[in-house]
Amino acid sequence: MNTTEAIRARKSIRGYRKDPVPRKILEDILRVAACSPSALNTQPWEFTVVTGDVLDKIRQGNLEKLAAVAGSHSFLPRLGYQGIYKQRSVDLAVEIFKLMDISREDKAKRAAWMQRGFLFFDAPAAILISMDRALEGTWAIFDLGVVAHAICIAALEYGLGTCIEDQGTAFPEVIRAYTGIPESKEIVIAVAIGYPDENFPANELRSKRERVSDITTWHGFSGELC
Ligand SMILES: Cc1cc2nc3c(=O)[nH]c(=O)nc-3n(C[C@H](O)[C@H](O)[C@H](O)COP(=O)(O)O)c2cc1C
Repeated sequence: MNTTEAIRARKSIRGYRKDPVPRKILEDILRVAACSPSALNTQPWEFTVVTGDVLDKIRQGNLEKLAAVAGSHSFLPRLGYQGIYKQRSVDLAVEIFKLMDISREDKAKRAAWMQRGFLFFDAPAAILISMDRALEGTWAIFDLGVVAHAICIAALEYGLGTCIEDQGTAFPEVIRAYTGIPESKEIVIAVAIGYPDENFPANELRSKRERVSDITTWHGFSGELC
C-alpha cells in the first residue's frame, strides 16, 4: 500500500474482532508514529496503551460516569460546533444511524450507540495520548493530532483498524484511577485499535468530504491548475 492508498484507505472503525493486538505490533506502530513532526521538535505526545483488565475497568468506569451525566454532552470539551460544522456532524450521525438501523425515535438504540464510544467500540486495545499541562496554549494539541493520524496510518500495515475518539477520554478521572496518569498531564484523545469486524455495519461508512475546489483558493498560478 503506498501513502496515497493508505491515506485513502484509513477510516474510522467502530466495531472490532476480539483478537488481542500483540504488544510488539503496538510498539512498532508507536515507533513509526513518533517520527511525526512537531513544533520545534518538542514531541509533546505521551502514550498510554491499555488492554485487557485495565481497559475493561476503564470501559466500566466510563459507563458509570456516563449514566451519572444522564445523556448530556456538556462534559465533552471542544464540541461547541455551530453552522456548517454542526451540520456535517449531524450528517455523519444520520449516515451511521442508517447503517446501524437506528431510527430517530429509538432512544434506547441511540443511547446504546452513544455508549459504544465510551466503551472504545469494544476494541481490544486503546492508545491514550496525553500532554503535559505546561504545554497548554502551545502547538502541542496540533502535534497530538498529527501523531494520532500517523498511528492510524501505521496501523493499516498490520491490518488494524482505528478510531480516534474523544469519547474514550471524556472521563479522565477514570483513566487516571487505572493507569496512574497524573493530574499534571492532560489526557487529550484516545485511539481505539484492533482488527476490524468486517460484519459490523458502521464499518462500511465512507464519510463524505468537501470537494478540494470548494475549500481551496489558488494564487499566482498560471495556465492549468495542478
Ligand atoms: C479529534 C477527533 C475526535 C473524534 N472523536 C470521535 C468519537 O468520540 N466518536 C466517534 O465515533 N468518532 C470520533 N472521531 C472520528 C470522526 O468522527 C471521523 O474521523 C470523521 O467522521 C471522518 O470519518 P473517517 O475517520 O471514517 O474518515 C473523532 C475524530 C477526531 C479527529
